[in-house]
Amino acid sequence: MYDSFEELEEAIKDCKKCKLCNNRNNIVLGCGRKDTKVMFIGEGPGADEDIQGIPFVGKAGKLMNMAFEALEIDREEVYIANVVKCRPPNNRNPEKDEQEACLDYLRSQVMLIKPKIIVLLGSIALKTILGEEYSITSSRGKWVEKKGIFYMPTFHPAALLRDESKKLDFYNDLKEVKEKMNNI
Ligand code: URA
Repeated sequence: MYDSFEELEEAIKDCKKCKLCNNRNNIVLGCGRKDTKVMFIGEGPGADEDIQGIPFVGKAGKLMNMAFEALEIDREEVYIANVVKCRPPNNRNPEKDEQEACLDYLRSQVMLIKPKIIVLLGSIALKTILGEEYSITSSRGKWVEKKGIFYMPTFHPAALLRDESKKLDFYNDLKEVKEKMNNI
């Protein structure tokens, strides 16, 4: 664990803890406010994120931004990170060893930011943070409270690109988040 963002950034900058370092252009640590109440956690950078070094700037990110705009969630006011910080080749799922190698960075981010609400975008984020026994199908849209943090599991925005019928559920889940943001 790292005691400050400076320490974390220093430690991660030449990270070679897993094989994802071999093909990366940029490490995508996270973006947004570090003293926020709300953190979003995705899976791992895609091609656009790898080039820009910023999470959720590609197609899935644009869709998420549209939901943010509709719900008046200011992207600058939240913090956005991923389970793995380097792009898995061909956008495959990050493998278990890659997730584990990166977990200390994510845990440190959560510890330093101390969010009150964490939005888990998709199955990888859900299982990494809450445990393998959770599934998006049965958990999405339902708050889970653990150690004073409220978790909202929802679809990964890339899933909405493949299946439009998931958009309304995603929107409603973020609406819940917006409401809790205002009341916490
Ligand atoms: N998908 C993710 O899980 N994270 C990103 O940053 C972009 C796409």
